Amino acid sequence: MSLTLNPPTTLLSVRDLHVNFTSRWPQEPNIDVLRGVSFQLERGERLALVGESGAGKSLLATSIIQLFDTSARIRHGSVHFEGQDLTQLSSKQLRQVRGRRIGMVFQDPMTNLNPNLTLEQQLLQCILSHRNISRAEARLVALHKLRQVHIPAPETRMRQYPHQLSAGQLQRVTIAMALTLEPALIIADEPTSALDVTMQAEIISLLTHLCHNNGVALLLISHDLSLVAHASDRCLIMYAGQIVEQGHTKSLINDAQHPYTQGLIRALPQMSQPGQSLYQIPGQMPLAQELGNQCAFANRCEHAFAACWSQPPTRTVTLEREVSCHLVNPAPAPAPPAEPEL
Ligand SMILES: Nc1ncnc2c1ncn2[C@@H]1O[C@H](COP(=O)(O)OP(=O)(O)OP(=O)(O)O)[C@@H](O)[C@H]1O
Ligand SMILES: [Mg+2]
Repeated sequence: MSLTLNPPTTLLSVRDLHVNFTSRWPQEPNIDVLRGVSFQLERGERLALVGESGAGKSLLATSIIQLFDTSARIRHGSVHFEGQDLTQLSSKQLRQVRGRRIGMVFQDPMTNLNPNLTLEQQLLQCILSHRNISRAEARLVALHKLRQVHIPAPETRMRQYPHQLSAGQLQRVTIAMALTLEPALIIADEPTSALDVTMQAEIISLLTHLCHNNGVALLLISHDLSLVAHASDRCLIMYAGQIVEQGHTKSLINDAQHPYTQGLIRALPQMSQPGQSLYQIPGQMPLAQELGNQCAFANRCEHAFAACWSQPPTRTVTLEREVSCHLVNPAPAPAPPAEPEL
């Protein structure tokens, strides 16, 4: 975790990352939307990134590989991946990292697929771009990958265009495609939110098993803690552009320390009795421009006290856990006024 020096197994190390968007109005300041994000991902590890809509999950994912909106800018921080700081690479070097070492799976499979090419053309293009093998060998690799993601009748499917497959099958194809690159890391941003509930669990299970079997690390992004709880070794909880709590998933769920994490757990469907309505964390997450010098969760927190409104919480590292909350690490009381000199 953050206090240890990078051991050799660390694959990705994000340190104090601040990202903002250039405002359209020159007189408006550029406000950080990601505000000091730090975490590590070990080789082969499955890390979940969870938080409500607008928390900054996708922005964090795209900032790692700098595949973001042209108005976004990394203002401060570093992203070390396999020993190099990605924030210092040229566009060409970044394209190589994206194409070979980091695979992306998006919510919409068509982000990764070309509607005008058959699956065979796309898979072969992908394989031949980084492996020095014949087309016939590449075809066998493609078929093997399609079987691995449980595409029925892969020989037939290979000849088809994306629109001839269902959404679930297309997402399987994009997973197969990401794996053909033999990456060290796959970033999957809400890979199942366009699918029905049964298919969601199936795809998540497929993705995590394939990553595990191939020694590929996974950064799995979701707003649904219940979906990723069984699919991750560790979990990052994100709120208003910051990681508010991180730790081993099981321990985090059994003993959440941040009131926001506690709220997410209380909101899980399995936490309510039959017939009881689901709990919802009251209020709304503030926008970056609404944040002052306070805890971003203070307006929704039932435990908030004076310090929460006047000072941002600092990060506390306890056993295998990092949490940013004044309840865990109370701010020092203001110094008493000095005695008047007589
Ligand atoms: N081009 C942009 N210009 C300004 N702000 C932006 C831009 N794109 C995103 N944002 C802001 O960045 C914040 C984080 O957005 P992001 O898409 O990362 O959230 P998210 O956690 O992925 O949400 P969701 O669960 O809905 O996908 C949001 O408050 C959003 O308004
Ligand atoms: Mg998103």
